[in-house]
Amino acid sequence: MGHKSTIPTLLKSFPEQGQGEDLTFSFFEQKIRELSTPLGGKTALAHMDPPTPDIAAKLVGLNAEFNQNLLHPSLSPFATEAEACLMAWLAPAFGMVCGHMCSGSSIANLAALWCAREAGARSVVTSTEAHLSVAKAAHILGMPCKKIEVNALGKMDLSQAPDLSKAALVLTAGTTGRGAIDPLQKRQALWTHIDAAWAGPLQFTKYRDLLAGIEQADSIAISAHKWFYQPKDSALVLFADEDSHKRISFGGSYLATPNIGVQGSRGAAAIPLLATLMAWGREGLAQKIEKNMADAEVLAERIDKDPRLTLLQNPETAVTIWRPAEGDQTISVDDLLARLGDDVSSVDIKGERWIRQVAVNYHADIEAIWQKIDQALGRKAL
Ligand SMILES: Cc1ncc(COP(=O)(O)O)c(C=O)c1O
Repeated sequence: MGHKSTIPTLLKSFPEQGQGEDLTFSFFEQKIRELSTPLGGKTALAHMDPPTPDIAAKLVGLNAEFNQNLLHPSLSPFATEAEACLMAWLAPAFGMVCGHMCSGSSIANLAALWCAREAGARSVVTSTEAHLSVAKAAHILGMPCKKIEVNALGKMDLSQAPDLSKAALVLTAGTTGRGAIDPLQKRQALWTHIDAAWAGPLQFTKYRDLLAGIEQADSIAISAHKWFYQPKDSALVLFADEDSHKRISFGGSYLATPNIGVQGSRGAAAIPLLATLMAWGREGLAQKIEKNMADAEVLAERIDKDPRLTLLQNPETAVTIWRPAEGDQTISVDDLLARLGDDVSSVDIKGERWIRQVAVNYHADIEAIWQKIDQALGRKAL
């Protein structure tokens, strides 16, 4: 899936004279509509990017129009309280007492590990399949990061963990590559952070037992722009102790209240999330996530039964990993990736390439997806 430049000559340099907002808007609207990967189509099942619900898209636009300053609660009364309200809805479901929004789980993981370091952690311990943002955060914070091997299902093998008494242990609830959930029960670590960027929202569904133990964590990261179906940039970092926010707060002379977390100015991402959850209710959210889980299970079953294909493992959190059957010389993973295009993604697991399909699109139609896979397999090699 090579990348060809989509930038027309018109955009090659900063123009001396402007062409007006209306004309410019139409130009950009057309480019965005024509040259973006559709995420809500019947066969879209590639990455952890959901289609945006209308209510969230509209409220992101309205937020931009009013451009509230969250650093000054008195200047952003509703936006500030909406975030507090969202935290009051969500944090207790994970056994947490406070938290804040940030632009993604890379920032959420960094904020949590910063807090862990302030609490005395001297190193980070995670798995070889943890997201790269964990090692990045450790690097920024000047802490060594040790990666522990995973078992055959991609879960951290905690029997190989070193002494954790001065470590921040980062467990993943839904690894990026194959959606595996590490054993989440509390360990004797100085700090336990759960990177639930992907699978956190399962807590509101019939699959919540998969996250058993999450409530014992010291901190949790959740990307709302994944399984809460929000547009980017939307994530939460939650903490089990009120004092955690104090550890990562800085007061500035011009600020009425201290600035909490890594980011300074940021958008009011709590509003579209709160509104989406209000519009759907817990049941509406659960129905969508449960449909994604069921879609992944049906797809995996079809793949598993098909002698032309190999399924890596049963999808634990709606991530299906597969490739042509062992020894098939007629078609390769790369051929299939080329034929299936943006409807699939790929992942390297233990040095081997696999096709990956993440079910986060609630408009997906597994019959249509299966037909596409079937056709792609049937055609002669490119
Ligand atoms: C498990 C996990 N953690 C962290 C991240 C980083 O999140 P973001 O891209 O929102 O910074 C991702 C992104 O895919 C992820 O899958």
